[in-house]
Amino acid sequence: MGALRLRLARLRTRAAEARRLPAGIRLVYLADPLFRRMPTPFAALLARQLRLPVRTVVRHVRAARSGPLNAHLDRERVELTASGQFGQAPGAVLYGLVRTLRPELVVETGVANGVSSAFILAALRANGTGRLVSIDLPFTVDEGAPSALIAGSTITTDQWSPIPPGRSPGWLVPEELRDRWDLRLGDSRVLLPHVLAESGEIGVFLHDSLHTVEHMLFEFDAAWPRITGGGLLVVDDAGADGGRALHVFSRSVGLPVYGVGGVAFIRKP
Ligand SMILES: C[S@@+](CC[C@H](N)C(=O)[O-])C[C@H]1O[C@@H](n2cnc3c(N)ncnc32)[C@H](O)[C@@H]1O
Repeated sequence: MGALRLRLARLRTRAAEARRLPAGIRLVYLADPLFRRMPTPFAALLARQLRLPVRTVVRHVRAARSGPLNAHLDRERVELTASGQFGQAPGAVLYGLVRTLRPELVVETGVANGVSSAFILAALRANGTGRLVSIDLPFTVDEGAPSALIAGSTITTDQWSPIPPGRSPGWLVPEELRDRWDLRLGDSRVLLPHVLAESGEIGVFLHDSLHTVEHMLFEFDAAWPRITGGGLLVVDDAGADGGRALHVFSRSVGLPVYGVGGVAFIRKP
């Protein structure tokens, strides 16, 4: 009975969050539990919406689901204590999109344990081209409270995605995937403008750092002019503040938002 009540309460929260999302992603946001179990049909729909070759995307998503990285994460994730990490189902979709778009440069903010980084790096390796620049302000847990790995930084517990004590940011990324990776530690508000100033055009930009409306809009506004035509803005998490930020941003660029589960996508024309 208690478990059922908990499920219903979760569903109600998710439904309330969904109501605040841009219309294009309300249903997929609600369908997140289904998407996590069977991501392929959702990936196919997303590919069609983003005007990408459906069969190619689906083939790559399937490869990610049955590939060695997914098996590695299945084994390692038992150690994870935190909420907020990128799921393996959205990770497979991200892999499929990076395989299909073949970007020369991917930039992400928010690494924590490194699930999304690992999927992007696995796709770049399979493509045989491209690199990933990631920015993270990491925290671990000390007696149940946030403990900064970079002195002086703070975070509220509702935004906190700690890595396990004794681990480094991105520890889940296998050694053989790291040669295309440039990981920078610090606040994206400070580091992102530097990364953008020194980089060429971005094929895929993933926001998964601090999910406040203000911080999300700062990252979207900074990254968008550098995203190449046909490239993608990817946003995790679309819920709560993310929904409001996506509303504002999609209106400002006049483009629709699509999604799978809690992850949103805007493709630049
Ligand atoms: C939701 S987690 C990232 C999950 C990750 N993408 C994955 O695949 O599991 C968010 C990360 O962003 C970090 N973060 C929070 N505020 C940040 C900021 N201002 N700049 C950069 N990273 C930040 C958090 O400490 C945490 O490591």
